Amino acid sequence: MAEKIKAPRGTFDVLPGDADARAAIVHAADSQFRRAGYGRIETPIFEDTALFSRTVGEATDIVSKEMFTFDDRGGRSVTLRPEGTAPICRAYVEHGMHKLAQPVKIWYLGQYFRYEAPQAGRFRQFNQIGAEAIGSDSPVVDAELIGLLHDLLVALEVPSLDLRLGSLGSPESRIDYREELQAYLRANESELSREVIERIETNPLRAFDSADPATKAVMQSAPTMLERLEGQDAAHFDEVRALLDQAGIGYTLDGTLVRGLDYYTRTIFEFHSDRLGAQSQLGGGGRYDGLVAELGGPETPAIGWAAGVERILLAAGGESQESAIDAFVAIADAGQSRRAAALVGELRNAGLAVEMDLAGRSMKGQLKQADRLGARAAIILDADGRAELRDMRSGEQTAIDPADAAGLIDPKEPR
Ligand code: HAM
Repeated sequence: MAEKIKAPRGTFDVLPGDADARAAIVHAADSQFRRAGYGRIETPIFEDTALFSRTVGEATDIVSKEMFTFDDRGGRSVTLRPEGTAPICRAYVEHGMHKLAQPVKIWYLGQYFRYEAPQAGRFRQFNQIGAEAIGSDSPVVDAELIGLLHDLLVALEVPSLDLRLGSLGSPESRIDYREELQAYLRANESELSREVIERIETNPLRAFDSADPATKAVMQSAPTMLERLEGQDAAHFDEVRALLDQAGIGYTLDGTLVRGLDYYTRTIFEFHSDRLGAQSQLGGGGRYDGLVAELGGPETPAIGWAAGVERILLAAGGESQESAIDAFVAIADAGQSRRAAALVGELRNAGLAVEMDLAGRSMKGQLKQADRLGARAAIILDADGRAELRDMRSGEQTAIDPADAAGLIDPKEPR
């Protein structure tokens, strides 16, 4: 026997039985985004590598060790997208969307790629649902977007939701804070992990995300940007909080929240659920007021979030289930299969979900299969051209004219 080839590590197949739970997420998102005026966008799976290194940040884990980057046959460096915000800002600039009414409100669903160590809820290819509102600095947009993710997770019945909220201020106000944090880290260097020490210059904020116990202890007393917010940044954050309070959305203030991408400014947030274990983050996002300009567009404030589809499924405990069919056409012998195929076609055109035997089963086997598929009725075609309708619940059978079959079966009636 030939050697079997498996799916690459950290990837997975979505089998037909898992499709309904995924479709329910897309359906809930689509309906919510429509009501809130968000249009759907699709961007390429791969982009120019510079798009991510310039925006997500060279010193982040994503860019420094998690990207699937390769040269195409023309020698250009391309990267399988690790996230969706930079590509959308690229599209915003490329299509001159700043000329449209602002903010431009967009949502997306697609596959993203990160070379991370696979574990429960962490894959190398995964799906994100996300939303971006580009072109407004109003705190109302911050609250609207946080509210959209909150409502989506509630609609999908994700249990024990925990919203963590913070602010990174504006880049100008962060300069002083960054120096203060760097001084604090240097003063405690003997306690810090090597990785954190190496990033004191390039990315000191990441120290808050360290899993190293000694570093964690040091970070408990570290100064936070949240404590240093002032002026317009503080006013913006206060307004976001007031709007969330008004909407009845509870949150925990978290000065240690930093996010793993460099483009954030002001409001940042994450939704977690303790049902997820170590990878407890369902979704997260924040403002990125400088990103569009960094990509050559005009100064444009913006905010968005993305949530992991697989993590939502895990937390909501989405059971795999096959959807039930309306009827199964069974045949007394193989000579009836052409008649059965014609009847199946007719019934499907009448709007019913119908299957027939495709495996040469006995009559007993066909009825068992009908039951397995959740069929409410079976139409049995006899060798002598007659037909019977079988109620799969009661087992009762009545003679019918096959031409009347469509009218005798109610579509989508719960079994
Ligand atoms: P992120 O926090 O890196 O943000 O990813 C968002 C979500 O994607 C995470 O909360 C998680 O649910 C899911 N996710 C990330 N990595 C993996 C993985 N390896 N396996 C499974 N799920 C994963 C962003 O990507 C930003 N672009 C969000 C954003 C949009 N900020 C502003 N706008």
